[in-house]
Amino acid sequence: MNNQVRPGLEDVVATDSEISFLDAEHEQIVVRGYDLIELARGSTYTDVAHLLLFDHLPSDEERAAFARQLGDHAHLPEGMADILRRLPSDTAAMDALRSGLSILAGYENAEVLADHSREANLAKAVRILAKSPTLAANAYRALHGQPFVQPNPGLSYAASFLQMIYGRPADADTIAIFDRILICYAEHELANSTFTARIVASTFADIYAAIVAATAALKGPLHGGANEAAARMFAQIASRGGPAAAEGYLLERLAARDRIMGFGHRVYMHRPDPRAELLKADLDAIAARDPDAAMMVQTYEIVVAAMEREKGLHPNADLPIGLLLSLLGIPIDLFTPVFLCARSAGLLAHVIEQHEHNRLYRPRVVYTGPRDLRL
Ligand code: COA
Repeated sequence: MNNQVRPGLEDVVATDSEISFLDAEHEQIVVRGYDLIELARGSTYTDVAHLLLFDHLPSDEERAAFARQLGDHAHLPEGMADILRRLPSDTAAMDALRSGLSILAGYENAEVLADHSREANLAKAVRILAKSPTLAANAYRALHGQPFVQPNPGLSYAASFLQMIYGRPADADTIAIFDRILICYAEHELANSTFTARIVASTFADIYAAIVAATAALKGPLHGGANEAAARMFAQIASRGGPAAAEGYLLERLAARDRIMGFGHRVYMHRPDPRAELLKADLDAIAARDPDAAMMVQTYEIVVAAMEREKGLHPNADLPIGLLLSLLGIPIDLFTPVFLCARSAGLLAHVIEQHEHNRLYRPRVVYTGPRDLRL
């Protein structure tokens, strides 16, 4: 037995996978053979979700059929509205989403739920993907005493999601930026939540159980919760005076040895995250038409320059996304749920792959406790 501990499993290769690969050296995120950044520039979230689940980008016919399926399954089962309204009012939206996903499992036929074949898993994956935005947006609405908004199957996935969040239709620019964010979040190799999903799936627990576990993992501020934390930091700097306060704020936090959320990454710690570079262009576009947003983007640039200078760390996707979602007027509590909805395409693909080529995950420890104690 190799008993060398690798804290955090750094650089440990845990599985082979046909889904995606972070090629940090070439600054490329490979998703089923495509460059994720190219997909974000020239594709749509549902096309990328189709790629992840069905191994190829859709033909026109497949695209229409997939949109129809997603539309057909986007509504929540009757009864979910009541359940969401009974959640304790202090429930975080991310916890409501996690609980809701768990409850949705109960609406599957027990045999279908226990069927881990590719066909059965794909059918459940489409239902989970379709319902996640409805659940996320309306769980938030329930917790804030707002009326439910139903999904609109006539709209794109991103447009319908935004309509449920805002309670009104979104404009075309907002939809385009949101769709790009969803693509950037769709898949990222063996991120902590993806590994979590695969570990749970490796017990032959069902696809819902794996997604629920991944949702729990994604909530943490070292992972998906970083987008909320980044947005809170920008709000804090704005409340202290904006760009003029940015440098001082950052140096103060670094002097206190704080972790600055939205920077650093296990795989590309001292290299740029290509998603952050892509999304900076969206921040610039918003700044060009809105002077208040321009101040926030200036703050962003000061913080990024200071972090690169002081720590050699680059922003990860959560930094621009935290700011973009704020500028798009999305409630901060929904940032990590949005991340989960977007990532569900990748997570579901990983669970399907795990079930198809399963071996139980069961690592070992180097025991450092006592032995031979006597009663
Ligand atoms: N702010 C300040 N310092 C950071 C940092 C950050 N965001 N990320 C890493 N560091 C520093 C650590 O303090 C540590 O410094 P030290 O060696 O002087 O103690 C060093 O960089 C290595 O950090 P470590 O936590 O061991 O690396 P990791 O690979 O375990 O961590 C993350 C990866 C993502 C958890 C880490 O970069 C982080 O906490 N980032 C902020 C959270 C975030 O944005 N998460 C989303 C990731 S997509």
